Amino acid sequence: EYLTGHLPTHLKGLDAALSGGIPFGALTELVGPAGIGKTQFCLKISVLATLPSCYGGLDGHVIYIDVESKFSSRRLIEIGLNSFPEIFHLEGMAKEMAGRITVLRPGSLSEFTESLQKIKVSLLQNQVKLLVVDSMAALVSGEYEQGPPRQHPLGWHISFIKSLAEFSRIPVVMTNQVRSRSATEISNYSFQGERRDDCGNFDSHLVAALGIHWAHAVTIRLVLESRSGKRFIKVAKSPMSPPLSFPFKITSSGILL
Ligand code: GTP
Repeated sequence: EYLTGHLPTHLKGLDAALSGGIPFGALTELVGPAGIGKTQFCLKISVLATLPSCYGGLDGHVIYIDVESKFSSRRLIEIGLNSFPEIFHLEGMAKEMAGRITVLRPGSLSEFTESLQKIKVSLLQNQVKLLVVDSMAALVSGEYEQGPPRQHPLGWHISFIKSLAEFSRIPVVMTNQVRSRSATEISNYSFQGERRDDCGNFDSHLVAALGIHWAHAVTIRLVLESRSGKRFIKVAKSPMSPPLSFPFKITSSGILL
């Protein structure tokens, strides 16, 4: 895959491991249990994508698909004010930056399909520099886990989103919730596309959540996990990085390494 450009996360170790940050033109997945910080990560990178380029941002707009109503503009502005006070304290700036983020809340799979088609048109205007989907799994929660293997309900969406990332050359970040134990399993067994458990079977949790098609569509997988009361972010799949893990904290400035 030919990747040009990155959105720096400002998490130094992570940016170094990813050769600069979240790559343009590819899908990056954030996996982890409830409450680990996936939404906080998405809010932080949304702030970063809107920042002027002299501050390491992309000076762009963001489309944020908020499936579970977890987006908070109050929190977004708090992260901005605490991380980049010199910009966010300027008159009218917090409002201007928050206004660059378009939040969509599809209530069903068919509304999600419609949103994606509208997004394709916005992407042609070239101002959008980041697409976030929080969360992908929530769109089909419970629908896919039972029953015999069949066409995954998100199969079309996954291909469509991948093609959006490729043609518009923007970073696309999507979250997925897994149970605590399976997050560790995924982190241990999914490096470099190997998604096999102890017995050599494909990781059933990940496959159950979004299907094998999804597992292959993702270029970067970051696993957020908790060990001995600390939070870690691990590069579980990446074409350029070994499986490095970094401790992080969630503060008033958002997530910090
Ligand atoms: P699910 O959506 O439930 O899967 O969880 P998630 O992984 O998206 O978790 P989220 O990003 O919502 O992180 C929740 C954690 O972030 C909480 O446990 C808090 O520790 C922290 N957090 C959330 N909001 C704030 C805030 O306003 N200030 C601070 N300092 N921490 C916060």
